[in-house]
Parts: sequence; C-alpha cells; structure tokens
Amino acid sequence: MNEATKTGVIGFPVDHSVSPTIHNYWINKHQINADLYKKISVDPKFFEEEVLRLKENGTLGLNVTVPLKELAFSFSEEQTEIAKQTRAVNTLTFKNGKVYGDNTDVIGFQRSLDKETVENNIANKKCLVLGAGGAARAVACALSNLGGTPFICNRTLKNALKIQQELRIQSEVIEEENLSTVIGEISFIVNTTSLGLGDTENNAVDFTQVNHRAFVYDLIYNPKLTKFLSVAKEKSLGYQNGMKMLIEQAAESFKIWHNIHPKNSDELMNVLEEL
Ligand code: ATR
Repeated sequence: MNEATKTGVIGFPVDHSVSPTIHNYWINKHQINADLYKKISVDPKFFEEEVLRLKENGTLGLNVTVPLKELAFSFSEEQTEIAKQTRAVNTLTFKNGKVYGDNTDVIGFQRSLDKETVENNIANKKCLVLGAGGAARAVACALSNLGGTPFICNRTLKNALKIQQELRIQSEVIEEENLSTVIGEISFIVNTTSLGLGDTENNAVDFTQVNHRAFVYDLIYNPKLTKFLSVAKEKSLGYQNGMKMLIEQAAESFKIWHNIHPKNSDELMNVLEEL
C-alpha cells in the first residue's frame, strides 16, 4: 500500500478557504513528501461517502469547515478530549485504518491572542460569544480555558442553550433582546457568525453601550476589516480579525499530520495579505 500523502479541506462551500495557501506554503517550505493540499466541496448529504472514498484513496488527513464540523465529530471513530468537549471536529486523520477526530480551533484561538488581551480582557472577565455553531463551541471552550466566562448570544436561542448544555463549562446564555442589559459589563466580544462576510452587515451589538476597555474579535478574515471591526476601530477599542487563528489552527493540524509545527511568519502573512 502506498503511504498516504494527500491532505485538504472539506466544506460546503469551500471556495473561500485560504487553507490551501497556508498548508502548501509549509509543504514547500519544509519540503514535505506530500501531495499539494486541496479544496474538496461536498454536500453534507454525501459527507460520509466522500470521506470514506478519500480515506481509501491515500488521504492522510482533512480539515473540516462549515457546515460539516459536527458531522465530522459523529463520523470519527476516536476523538481527542477537546473534540469530545466541543463535539465539533475540524481535523480528521486516517491512521492504521481508523478515523481520528481533533479540534485545533480551540488551541488556534488561544494562541492567536496576545498575553495582554488574555490578562486584561478575558481572565476572570465576562466575554460575549456571538453565534452558536461549530466555531462558537471552540471559542467558548478556549475562553473558558483562559479563565473567562462566555456569555453565548445567538439568533436561535435553542442552539445557544444546546452549546451551554453540551460544553459543560461555566457559561451563560443571553437572549438577543436582553443583550443591552449586560453589554456594558462585557470586556471581550467575539463574532463567530458568518455575518460580516463579504458586504453583509453585523448589527448584533450596539457599540454605544460597549465598555471603552472592551476588546473586539471577529473570526472573519475576509474582508480584513469587517464593518463590525471598523466600528470597534472608530471607537478606539482593541480589535483583531481571524487571520492569526486561521494560521494557528492550521499549524496544529499540520503538526498532527506531518510532525512539524510550523512557525507563523511575516513572509506567510504577506502572502496571505496579497490574496
Ligand atoms: P461555524 O461552524 O463556522 O460556526 P455554523 O455551524 O454554520 O458555522 O454556525 C453559524 C452560526 O452563525 C450559527 O450560530 C448561526 O445562527 P443559527 O444558530 O440561528 O443558525 C449564526 N448565523 C449565521 N447566519 C446568521 C445571520 N444572518 N444572522 C444571525 N446569525 C447567523
């Protein structure tokens, strides 16, 4: 049997993904004996069928993106503790005939944060998580690991309640209409929804009520400055987009597959900025 050398990202849609640029940059830089990392689009209905086909076809591992992370969790045969906690898998590895599931978004989000942001805005503080999908699960776990209390707020209340119940961390659920009652006490705000992608608006937060020391994070990295972040900038709040998290979670997946932990570099950042 040939050694598995194929990696890629599977999602629906997946066209927007810049993961191939990151992984292929490292595959070349570290002269890894591997095929180029690819994008694979698959309708959720055919997810299992497609993954099994890829597994039999020399695939070493896959990153999983929207909306397949929860399906990937159920599909994997063995999961790491963090994948079990989030019940979301963004990294599948095929080894010894088995399918392993991991979630590198949690560590990716943690590593993307500056020490000062963690100390001043997260540890022992109230943190607002907008959204309740796979990304919100990872972010809420990461914030809890860093000593913060996530307040989960989502368009569909029952999805927020589901996360709270399944994650088993200290967290609160806040209804959208009650957000104004706590927003002034929140010191870290993170958007995990797709609102803000392209030209869409994200009006989930009334920034006139936000504490002037709050830090605002948007998982979206395209555009670099979402409207959400541009309001934070206008208000002179600290802010950050999702690019560093994207690189850090990719580095952790790369390590799982190729046993090398690539460093984030200015050169890679420049390549990504030019996309
Ligand atoms: P991901 O894996 O990236 O988190 P996801 O699982 O599809 O993606 O989750 C997307 C989240 O963004 C969900 O919480 C979704 O809200 P619902 O639970 O109500 O579906 C939220 N979201 C997506 N589009 C939204 C919109 N137009 N307005 C508000 N929330 C939205």
